[in-house]
Amino acid sequence: METIKLNNGVEMPQLGYGVFQVSPEEAERCVADALSIGYRMIDTAQAYQNEEGVGNAIRKSSIKREDIFVVDKIWMSAYEGDTPARSIDESLRKLGTDYIDLMLLHQPFGDRYNAYRALEDALKAGKVRAIGVSNFYPDHLIDLTHFMDVVPAVNQVETHVFFQQTEARKYMDELGVAHMSWGPLAEGKNGFFTNETLAAIGAAHGKTGAQVALRYLLQRGIIVIPKSVRKERMEQNLHLFDFTLTDSEMDEILKLDTAKPLIMPSHHNPEITKWFMSFAPRNH
Ligand SMILES: NC(=O)c1ccc[n+]([C@@H]2O[C@H](COP(=O)([O-])OP(=O)(O)OC[C@H]3O[C@@H](n4cnc5c(N)ncnc54)[C@H](OP(=O)(O)O)[C@@H]3O)[C@@H](O)[C@H]2O)c1
Repeated sequence: METIKLNNGVEMPQLGYGVFQVSPEEAERCVADALSIGYRMIDTAQAYQNEEGVGNAIRKSSIKREDIFVVDKIWMSAYEGDTPARSIDESLRKLGTDYIDLMLLHQPFGDRYNAYRALEDALKAGKVRAIGVSNFYPDHLIDLTHFMDVVPAVNQVETHVFFQQTEARKYMDELGVAHMSWGPLAEGKNGFFTNETLAAIGAAHGKTGAQVALRYLLQRGIIVIPKSVRKERMEQNLHLFDFTLTDSEMDEILKLDTAKPLIMPSHHNPEITKWFMSFAPRNH
């Protein structure tokens, strides 16, 4: 498995398994399947409500804890006061582990400076090995990086062939923040699984269009976490290291970029901001 060295020296696998929209009951079976076929990085979040299932699968596997890289995220309703620190302890309890490899702020809303300081404290205390953010647009990332002590190791943002984040990536590179994709299969939207460009390139390599799209992201230095509840698809999504896309194939796939989000509308859209507020209710 290829790894990426984060800005604090920690190495993380470049390919992992994501468990968004995997029910708490199914998470244990899915993560057990993923580990059994060779995944060594799991991406969960407090908001997915499946940390226990993830933790059970890890503890019941015969794989050493240090050989599995666990990514978790603090939800924005837990950003105030001492709540983020308590929520990290709660995540450790649910996962049944002494440390989380990479802990992210899930969204750039609410008291994110306070929540990020809790991540910095957790890093000092050895409860997490690396810290970062998710869904931070360049303006949010520049702002946070300027005012905090620890530069985020990772920014996990919507990234797939239809939304390649080329502009945002420039700022991540400038700041030394690794680019991690969520939705690397575009959640199947926009005809992703039947896209002719991807399928044609795949045919030349004996691979599927999905494998080509994931390989493309890997070759651009992006960390990917495709999700599937089906073991045969998990296997397909894992077998990406036995072929290489040529420069002209990379150029062809670059043309699929629309430079617009497909899954989650821009956070700069006020209606989207309002929608997010409903996930962190307050008493006023
Ligand atoms: N930070 C954030 O805000 C955020 C947001 C979204 C996601 N994420 C993370 O990113 C991970 C991946 O993103 P995602 O789950 O949204 O979407 P995704 O990985 O782009 O796509 C998952 C979809 O593709 C299907 N699929 C997977 N492999 C396939 C294959 N080889 N052939 C055909 N269909 C296939 C899955 O169906 P089946 O399961 O039925 O196979 C599922 O419907 C998440 O699980 C989560 O860990 C983070």
